[in-house]
Amino acid sequence: FEIPPVNNEPMRNYEAKSADRAGLQAAVDAMMAKGTFEVPCIINGREVRTGRKSKQVNPSDHAKALCEYHEADEALIGEAIKGALEAKTAWEHMPWNDRAAIFLKAADLLAGKYRYEVMAATMLGQGKNVWQAEIDAAAEACDFLRFGIKYAEQLYSIQPPKNSPNVWNRVEYRPLEGFVLAVSPFNFTAIGLNIPCAPAMVGNVVVWKPSPMATYSNYLVYKILEEAGLPAGVIQFCPGPPEPIVATAINHREFASLHFTGSTFVFRNLWKQISNNLDKYRGYPRIVGETGGKNFHLVHKSANVESAVHQTIRAAFEYQGQKCSALSRLYVPKSMWNAKGGFKELLQKHVGEISLGPVNEFQHFMGPVIARHSYDKIMGLIDAGKKAGGQIITGGVGDDSKGFFVQPTVIETTDPGSVTMVNEIFGPVLTVYAYDDDKFEETCHLIDSTTEYSLTGAIFSTDRAALIKASNLLRNASGMMYYNDKCTGAVVGQQPFGGARASGTNDRAGSMALLLRFTSARTIKESF
Ligand code: ALA
Repeated sequence: FEIPPVNNEPMRNYEAKSADRAGLQAAVDAMMAKGTFEVPCIINGREVRTGRKSKQVNPSDHAKALCEYHEADEALIGEAIKGALEAKTAWEHMPWNDRAAIFLKAADLLAGKYRYEVMAATMLGQGKNVWQAEIDAAAEACDFLRFGIKYAEQLYSIQPPKNSPNVWNRVEYRPLEGFVLAVSPFNFTAIGLNIPCAPAMVGNVVVWKPSPMATYSNYLVYKILEEAGLPAGVIQFCPGPPEPIVATAINHREFASLHFTGSTFVFRNLWKQISNNLDKYRGYPRIVGETGGKNFHLVHKSANVESAVHQTIRAAFEYQGQKCSALSRLYVPKSMWNAKGGFKELLQKHVGEISLGPVNEFQHFMGPVIARHSYDKIMGLIDAGKKAGGQIITGGVGDDSKGFFVQPTVIETTDPGSVTMVNEIFGPVLTVYAYDDDKFEETCHLIDSTTEYSLTGAIFSTDRAALIKASNLLRNASGMMYYNDKCTGAVVGQQPFGGARASGTNDRAGSMALLLRFTSARTIKESF
């Protein structure tokens, strides 16, 4: 069998008076009117209400909770692991085409019947505006499922190129022995989906801890998988805090892999704990993680200024700078920066015009940041940037009275190693360093050495020689490199995503390489 060709899910535009707009508006209104949803854990296909409850608040209006979820505890995680291991044999031996059908059906359910509901949960729970919710919860989520299946098919087809006479050699891509622990972030519903699904596609069983700040959208996505026919126990939905979920899982003998997206700090800590536990495990765990970034745009003197400004604004401020790929540091030649009508003036003008407000109002370019702790951290870093001599050229102000709103902020600094140039902020703050026009090469070295991260970057230039020079000098400074385009918005099936250094293990979300990490090959030689 061959899996049918797959395409990226077409984006819809939700313009006023369209049927999509009306449908989504109705879903948002209904979700807001209904009040707090109750979310159980789901273990072996059974809803479990532990009674220890936490709330996922609406960041646009933090007095309101979108959902109240039951937290998994140690005993329940033990049960989840046991159940997953029991479900494993049937799952891994299910014919591949049947396994594939479940994920392809889930993509169709998400693209059609449940599109507005999952988008509404992403908007109200994770603070995304309509367009960002469409990119994430509709398009990218479907793409991860459909392309993931295509990549698995490609993986299974990689076979030894040679057989001797009367011999047939073949390689079996078995799932890992044991279970996978999936830990997903708040910032993409699609990543929430992909973190447990990628390992499950190639036959693994998974204990999934979604982010507390994305519980409701992730629960809806789980229910879609269930409706598509995912057998009980294959993915165990375990919301709650890291302790005791993660701790119980990584102490278990059958722990086989961690699939993680989140902060560098948490990932490093988990890795250290896992290495301390190595003697307990049956095998060497596969550790796969996407973590932080401190992503850059480098503008060359030959660049088209209007276009570079436009891409810069999108990369830095869409979804309030809370994509791991978001732009955070900008390098512009001094003459271009300071020119009348130049980069600085254009940036100041257009960023100053950005509208910021609750996402259910639909018209805003920006919404709230995700939570109190993010708001405080971002405002603290803006303050530290000012104290270190940074000039706020626009923004710099927050308002947390109703939601967690931080104005889009641009800081100009003359110190390329300043606090906001170096630290990951994960918020709508862009720091700019204007470099001497004749120091393009030195600036490349600076970009490469300023931070510990290596996730995304972009070079803007109409001079091919300058592009090549910078790209070579910045070869290790990012896992994603864009020429004359913003450093965010990788599309599944088109730009496999990942970063190195402190940004992750670079196993490429949306690629065959990722799936390979969750398999353990067996070579079979048969003689006739
Ligand atoms: N895949 C997301 C992007 O590229 C993180 O923006």
